[in-house]
Amino acid sequence: MEVWGKMILEKFAESGIIKYKELFISNRHIEKIHHLTTLYNVCKTNGELAKKADIIFICVRPADIKFVLEEIKPNMKDDALVVSLNGSISFEHIEKIVDCKIAKAIPSVTAEVNQSQTLVCFNHRVADYDKKELNSILKCMGNVIELPENEMGMGSELVSCMPGFIASIFSVLCHEAKKHTLISEQQVVQMVLNTLCATGNLMLEKDMTFDEVVSRVATKGGITEEGVKIVNEEFPAIADTIFLRTLEKRRLTAQKAEELF
Ligand SMILES: NC(=O)c1ccc[n+]([C@@H]2O[C@H](COP(=O)([O-])OP(=O)(O)OC[C@H]3O[C@@H](n4cnc5c(N)ncnc54)[C@H](OP(=O)(O)O)[C@@H]3O)[C@@H](O)[C@H]2O)c1
Repeated sequence: MEVWGKMILEKFAESGIIKYKELFISNRHIEKIHHLTTLYNVCKTNGELAKKADIIFICVRPADIKFVLEEIKPNMKDDALVVSLNGSISFEHIEKIVDCKIAKAIPSVTAEVNQSQTLVCFNHRVADYDKKELNSILKCMGNVIELPENEMGMGSELVSCMPGFIASIFSVLCHEAKKHTLISEQQVVQMVLNTLCATGNLMLEKDMTFDEVVSRVATKGGITEEGVKIVNEEFPAIADTIFLRTLEKRRLTAQKAEELF
């Protein structure tokens, strides 16, 4: 566990959904987690952890997943649920090593402020009871959305990559705006960011569509309409390319990792 493992561990513990001492953790370099001994149950090996855990979260890079699965396999409880935080490796490949209850869970970085849009999918062995239990744990980070396995890729683009897309799009907007004003960069960012959040809240609270927001602001022949016209003319091609490229990259990453199985 490092970035994502650490984040979900802290969220589970801080929220109180799982008691600190009911959380077992392991890392291939034990020295990295040794300082956490006073808070959690630090296990010396993945095998030791597998002996004790009812739900095993695997929070490693795709290339390391097979190795971890092989380590936990001989030690797992019969009824254990394995949860992979990686969306790329298919159930079919994971089941080649551990033929058990398996889920995939993809949190988003907005979990940091308890507003994750966490995606989950389950293999055929997972019962409704287990789904309910896992969902209730993941809910401590925000919303939980169940998808079929074959939609986890696009789903991940929409919630897991999206904070990165949104940040880079609005970074470009702020940068270009700055060329036309003496308002400080800090103020430009603050105004755009607050307007972004407020627009989202407006849509969610008033159940408004994107088109409704546009038509409320962009009066016929007005200034906003001029900008909206450019977005509609130029941006669809860019958005299409973003998804074509990221989905292809996702496919190649999965292919490379699954070759190890
Ligand atoms: N980016 C996203 O939005 C997102 C969202 C959800 C999930 N994910 C997925 O989450 C997974 C983890 O990503 P990350 O960024 O957290 O990776 P990371 O920062 O590299 O952390 C992986 C950790 O796993 C440890 N590890 C590797 N092999 C191990 C083994 N055999 N036994 C025990 N520990 C081992 C590593 O140890 P060392 O420190 O010794 O290398 C490292 O601490 C990835 O599969 C990623 O796809 C990503």
